[in-house]
Amino acid sequence: MPVRSRIIGVGSYLPTKILTNHDLEREVDTSDEWILDRTGIRERRIASEEEATSDLAFNAAKEALKGAGIKPEDLDFIIVATVTPDMLFPSSACLVQQRLGVKGIFAFDISAACSGFIYAISVADQYIRSGIHRTGLVIGADTFSRVVDWTDRNTCVLFGDGAGAVVLQADYNGRGIISTHLYSDGTLWDFLYIPGGGSRIPPGEEMVKKRLQYVKMRGNETFKVAVNTMSEAIGEALKSNGLTSADIKLFIPHQANLRIIQAVGKRLNIPMERFKINLDRYGNTSAASIPIALYEAVMEGEIKEDDYILLEAFGGGLTWGSALIRW
Ligand code: ACO
Repeated sequence: MPVRSRIIGVGSYLPTKILTNHDLEREVDTSDEWILDRTGIRERRIASEEEATSDLAFNAAKEALKGAGIKPEDLDFIIVATVTPDMLFPSSACLVQQRLGVKGIFAFDISAACSGFIYAISVADQYIRSGIHRTGLVIGADTFSRVVDWTDRNTCVLFGDGAGAVVLQADYNGRGIISTHLYSDGTLWDFLYIPGGGSRIPPGEEMVKKRLQYVKMRGNETFKVAVNTMSEAIGEALKSNGLTSADIKLFIPHQANLRIIQAVGKRLNIPMERFKINLDRYGNTSAASIPIALYEAVMEGEIKEDDYILLEAFGGGLTWGSALIRW
C-alpha cells in the first residue's frame, strides 16, 4: 500500500462568548429574520479580549494531540492556516509551537482565507507522502471579529471566531488523504479583502479614517463564484478518483452561507442530509470552519472507518479546493 496521510486526532476550540442575531439587531440595521433567511446563521462565537488566533489554535491543537495519543515532541511540523494572525510576523504557527514547548521542528502559516485548511492539509500531505516527514499538526484558526467592520451590516453578520486542528500521520493501510485539488484566481482578489495594514496601505491615520483595516466584500458576486467553484471542486475530486457522489458518506463544505451549500447540493443532485452543517451556530469561521465541522462529525459518530468524506472550500484570493479522505 502507498503511504498516505491519515488523520489520527481531531480538535476544536470555540470561544465561550455567543453573539446572537438578536444581539446584532442592537448594533446595526438588521434582523434575525434577514440573517437567518439569507445565510442560515443564528449565532456566532466571539473571542475574549485576551484571546488571539494563536490561543484559539493552541487550544484546538492540544485536543487534537490528545485525541491522537501523541506528544508535541512527536511532531515533525506545524502548519496554521489563517488570515488573522496575532501579528504580521512571527507566524501564528511559531506562537503555537512556543506554547506547545517543542523545539527542533518547523512551523509556518498559510494564507488562503477560507480555503486555508484545505491548502494546509494539502501541503502537509506532500511532506508525508514524499516520506520526508511522518507526523504533522495542521490547524485552521481565524478571529474575524477583529477584522470585520461592526458598523457594516453587509459583512459583520456573517463571521465568527474559532479553531480546528488535525494530526496527520503516515499510514500504510490505504486510509487517509486520497487526493487534494487546489485552485486560485488572483484576478478576483478584490471580491474579498482587507485593504489596509499591509505594505500597500500601511497602518496610519488615513487607513483608520477610511476604515481600510476592515474586511471588504462583494457579497453577491462572491456568492455566485462560490457556488460554481465548490461545485467544480466536488466534481473534479470525484471524477479524478473514479467515484460518484453516492460513494461519499459525508460532504464537509466551508460554512459560509447555507444558501451556497443548498445551491451546490441542488446543482450536483446531492441531498442536504449528506452535507455537514454547523454554520447556524458558528457563522463563517474562515479557515477554522472545515476542521470544526470535521471534529463535530467525528465526535457525533457520523464517520466510520473506511468511509469516504469530501472536504470542499472557497475563499478570498479567490481560492478554492477539495480534499478526499478515506477515514
Ligand atoms: N441585514 C439586513 N439587510 C441587509 C444586510 C443585513 N445584515 N446585509 C445586506 N442587506 C441588504 C442589502 O443592503 C440589500 O439592500 P438593498 O436591496 O436595499 O440594497 C439587500 O439586503 C440585499 O442584499 P444582497 O447583497 O443582494 O443580499 P444577498 O441575498 O446576496 O445576501 C450575502 C448577502 C449574505 C452577503 C450573500 O451575498 C453571501 O453570502 N455572499 C457570499 C459571501 C461569502 O461567502 N463570503 C465569505 C467568503 S469566504 C472567505 O474567504 C472569508
